[in-house]
Amino acid sequence: DLLQEIKRLEDLFTVDTAKLKAITSHFQDELARGLSKEGGSIPMNPTWCMGFPTGHETGTFLALDMGGTNLRVCEINLPEEKGEFDIIQSKYRMPEELKTGTADELWGYIADCLQQFIEYHHEGEKLDKLPLGFTFSYPATQDYIDHGVLQRWTKGFDIDGVEGKDVVPPFEAALEERGVPIKLTALINDTTGTLIASAYTDSEMRIGCIFGTGCNAAYMEHCGDIPKLEHMKLDPNQEIAINCEWGAFDNEHKILPRTQYDIIIDKDSPRPGQQSFEKMVAGLYLGELFRLVLLDLHEVAHVKIFEGQDVSSLKKPYSLDASFLSDIENDPFENLSETHDRFEKALGIKCTKPELELIRRLAELIGTRSARLSACGVAAICLKKNYKTCHVGADGSVFNKYPHFKARGAQALKEILDWDKGRDGKALGKGHDPVEILPAEDGSGVGAALIAALTLKRVQEGK
Ligand code: BG6
Ligand code: GLC
Repeated sequence: DLLQEIKRLEDLFTVDTAKLKAITSHFQDELARGLSKEGGSIPMNPTWCMGFPTGHETGTFLALDMGGTNLRVCEINLPEEKGEFDIIQSKYRMPEELKTGTADELWGYIADCLQQFIEYHHEGEKLDKLPLGFTFSYPATQDYIDHGVLQRWTKGFDIDGVEGKDVVPPFEAALEERGVPIKLTALINDTTGTLIASAYTDSEMRIGCIFGTGCNAAYMEHCGDIPKLEHMKLDPNQEIAINCEWGAFDNEHKILPRTQYDIIIDKDSPRPGQQSFEKMVAGLYLGELFRLVLLDLHEVAHVKIFEGQDVSSLKKPYSLDASFLSDIENDPFENLSETHDRFEKALGIKCTKPELELIRRLAELIGTRSARLSACGVAAICLKKNYKTCHVGADGSVFNKYPHFKARGAQALKEILDWDKGRDGKALGKGHDPVEILPAEDGSGVGAALIAALTLKRVQEGK
């Protein structure tokens, strides 16, 4: 019976090559629609980060990273000549309550952290206002680089009174109130920071990706290829980084193979109908998907796993995170004894051998689907930009820590882009895929500092 159930789950969660290709093709259309005057569901936000760094950016900058897990503050010294960066940094906890609290609490907490940082590292110094690159990793509409209207919260955040407004004035007001000597120079997305930081050290970098709590990418587009900016009469050859916000791909539910579990995740989230793609692939949701499937197999399906046991611990939404799945996939033992102990300790559930096998297979299926669907986004940008070979810089907990994510993603890219057949009839170099996804440089530290430096330079040059 359990074997049959595993087969059913395999059918539900497996995305074959043909489907990957169909998704990628639709993805490519949707990237274009996001750049059109009419717009689409992928926001394709212009970031006003104009082109790549030259390597001559210098100065001292603060960088603030508000991702989801941590709050990080860095001070970065960009060297006169391209080389080692001088970085000092402090991490602060991002209290869970803050994510659903009030806007005042949020900005107040962040300003307090910045104040602490400055007091600690510049005790007693008289400071001019330090320029800050603020990595605010949520979708924002920007008319210029030092402002940003939050389109909507993502990644489970739900703070009233912030959506639809410029986030910079209340942030600066909180700094002002505390007398913190900081001037926001650039508001950036983590994907843009990742792209710029990675390109600084690797000239083949074309795309910056985050596979973490959320999932998203940024790349450079020529102004002339962005119909929705036509009215601004920008130099058509000038490049501008586009923050895709591809988590919103397929909000219309035309192509992604959603399961009943994906539908529940969406319905029970603070923003139903939003971030359809992200909810199937990003770290925040992987453990929740897993929990929902197990609960279903216990309660509804005919198989009744964990029969006669108290599964109340499995009933708490978001109680299992992606690292729980990582650990299951990493269980080195044939008899899955680590998984067995983990279930017993964390959830009070004693699993039988067949149940353990189902659990392991389910983790693999969810992790594999995430990597394969994520690859569709990367492939879509490569196809849109006609990049035959390039590097992609990637960061985030799923990319860095989830077992086999990189290999599964690379395999999917290979299938989508038909490398085995040799694209364009050209012989393939041995050992290297034409498009390689590589660990990124520190986007929200170095990337934010570089973008702040580029911005100041542009301002000084009066552009
Ligand atoms: C970090 C970057 O390493 O990865 C952040 O510095 C980014 O800017 C983050 O937001 C994303 O990963 P996660 O897993 O924390 O969402
Ligand atoms: C979410 C955010 C996006 C961010 C991504 C990765 O998708 O909306 O701005 O880049 O998560 O952190």
